[in-house]
Amino acid sequence: MTTTLITGGTVVSATGRSEADVLIDGEKIVALISPGTTPLGTIAADTVVDATGKYVIPGGIDAHTHFELPFGGTEASDTFESGTRAAAWGGTTTVIDFAVQTTGTKVQDGLAKWHDKAAGNCAIDYGFHQIMGGVDDDSLKAMRGFVDEGITSYKMFMAYPGVFYSDDGQILRAMQTAADLGLLTMMHAENGPAIDVLAAQLVEAGKTTPYYHGIARAWQMEEEATHRAIMLGNLTGAPLYVVHVSAKQAVEQLAWARDKGQNVFGETCPQYLYLSLEEQLGADSKEWGAFEGAKWVCSTPLRSREEGHQDHMWQALRTNDLQMVSTDHCPFCMKGQKDLGVDDFRKIPNGIGSIEHRMDLMYQGVVTGELTLERWVELTSTTPARMFGMYGQKGVIAPGADGDVVIYDPKGHTTISKDTHHMNMDHSAWEGFEIDGHVDTVLSRGKVVIDRGEYLGAKGDGRFVKRGLSQYLI
Ligand code: URP
Ligand code: ZN
Ligand code: ZN
Repeated sequence: MTTTLITGGTVVSATGRSEADVLIDGEKIVALISPGTTPLGTIAADTVVDATGKYVIPGGIDAHTHFELPFGGTEASDTFESGTRAAAWGGTTTVIDFAVQTTGTKVQDGLAKWHDKAAGNCAIDYGFHQIMGGVDDDSLKAMRGFVDEGITSYKMFMAYPGVFYSDDGQILRAMQTAADLGLLTMMHAENGPAIDVLAAQLVEAGKTTPYYHGIARAWQMEEEATHRAIMLGNLTGAPLYVVHVSAKQAVEQLAWARDKGQNVFGETCPQYLYLSLEEQLGADSKEWGAFEGAKWVCSTPLRSREEGHQDHMWQALRTNDLQMVSTDHCPFCMKGQKDLGVDDFRKIPNGIGSIEHRMDLMYQGVVTGELTLERWVELTSTTPARMFGMYGQKGVIAPGADGDVVIYDPKGHTTISKDTHHMNMDHSAWEGFEIDGHVDTVLSRGKVVIDRGEYLGAKGDGRFVKRGLSQYLI
């Protein structure tokens, strides 16, 4: 077993910061050593990593990714191999991807397929949530095996009729089972049937460009579905986690339920903090014209900056009305994928790729004063670990935890570009974004996988994480 000593850095946790050296023995953190308490010479580490002037934080946990997701007649362009490698470059050391059951298929088959795709291919550790695309007697029975499989959360969709959609009766039945088992219900909260009518009306009227994707998916559709999910959760006692929240009115629903003491949580994503519908309307490029806005087609959609959604998301992250930031990493190339919808926004595969940039993008909130350093760590690592039953092993720098550590250099500076990113995409939704701070070194279970601009990891390094029940419930 090799030992690694990270010296001279500022260790940042969700609750504070301290000057300490971090000792890793094999795959596990074994000690935090305050300056002056142990003569350094008495610790003979095999490798010493100098973190002077840098932050030492628990590895990022991205709890919402879609590698190789079949969607709209194509498949998300990052594989488990390319996606987890890009994650490592960006300071993320654990992902939770969504195993897929589509309507008419068996849950167990979907899960087995996801294990096949991931096993031996990941650069970092990974877990799964289960997408339930067809709630019936069979799938409800299958849910009873989830906890033993280490899958303690599952996602349902109030959107995408005919693909992933569940009606209210199906959601009720699944939530009853989830409440019984202690599973966390993750909800895509948008009123899909109403959205499909609005979208068809827009296309009929000749409004076919990517911008109209966001017009069809109006905030009222998100607020209404969020409220409905909360009430179904209230009735059944099932803890609820609403994914990719983008409308301020949906946040208000979450806050209302939480104030009453209900187990209701929400995540937002970097795109809903930084990008807007107005920019999508103005998008124009030599190559794509107004179709350039397709790079930002995702669901829930980007929201209007004039209406104040983005400011509200930042505020909700401070007040804990939203608890986490995940990426919803679901990349599609412009050529051959997004361009399926060049004449009709409904055919554009939904999704944005950000897995490599989440830690950096959220650190900009520290730079601008929107977030404290501690809250940055909490939103991107510690709460994801607690929410999804991994805390102690992940999400913290403490003896006994996995040696998942990021050394972050606050003095670094980069510009995001498709020419330098490591995601399998022909464009970047973040092209030209200036980033203060930089991921310097990344350790995954004690192994250095990123060493100041060099990738030292390998596919197959990452292991499946069997998760426990949520550690975040009231
Ligand atoms: O646009 C998105 N979010 N694509 C991925 C599927 C989903 O709903 O999360
Ligand atoms: Zn979704
Ligand atoms: Zn998603």
